[in-house]
Amino acid sequence: MRDIILAEENSAKKTVFVLNGPNLNLLGMREPEIYGSDTLDDIAGRLEDQAHKLDLDIDIRQSNHEGHLIDWLHEASADGALGVILNAGAFTHTSIALYDAIKAITVPVIEVHLSNPAAREEFRHKSLIAPVAKGTICGFGALGYQLALDAISQF
Ligand code: DQA
Repeated sequence: MRDIILAEENSAKKTVFVLNGPNLNLLGMREPEIYGSDTLDDIAGRLEDQAHKLDLDIDIRQSNHEGHLIDWLHEASADGALGVILNAGAFTHTSIALYDAIKAITVPVIEVHLSNPAAREEFRHKSLIAPVAKGTICGFGALGYQLALDAISQF
């Protein structure tokens, strides 16, 4: 019996959380010259296909509220997620609470941005979450999410 339970535990698919912050629900129509023409649903569809091939489960969410992102980071950790892909939007540049949340959990978090914030306005040059992220992928548009998933699948 114990062997069967262990086998089931080992075969349980690992989950990757993909958390998106403020204004990312507007992707596709929001400044397409900066963020591209893909909607978040387009990105989600490709990530789901990729996750399927990698034998991973994926949980994709978006919120305009900082506290939701914090709760979901805690949830990812409590659930034993394999990793988190986080595009925190503008909270990247302002949120000590997100920094604290990432620092408080053990699940690796990959920071993703569609644009390259370093090549944009000065106020985007500082990321408060970069020091506590496992790594950062930015400037590759929607492809960045797929690169992040590929990286997490190799953890
Ligand atoms: C962003 C970059 C942030 O500076 C900005 O506030 C966003 C999107 C990106 O994906 O390029 O909302 O995170």
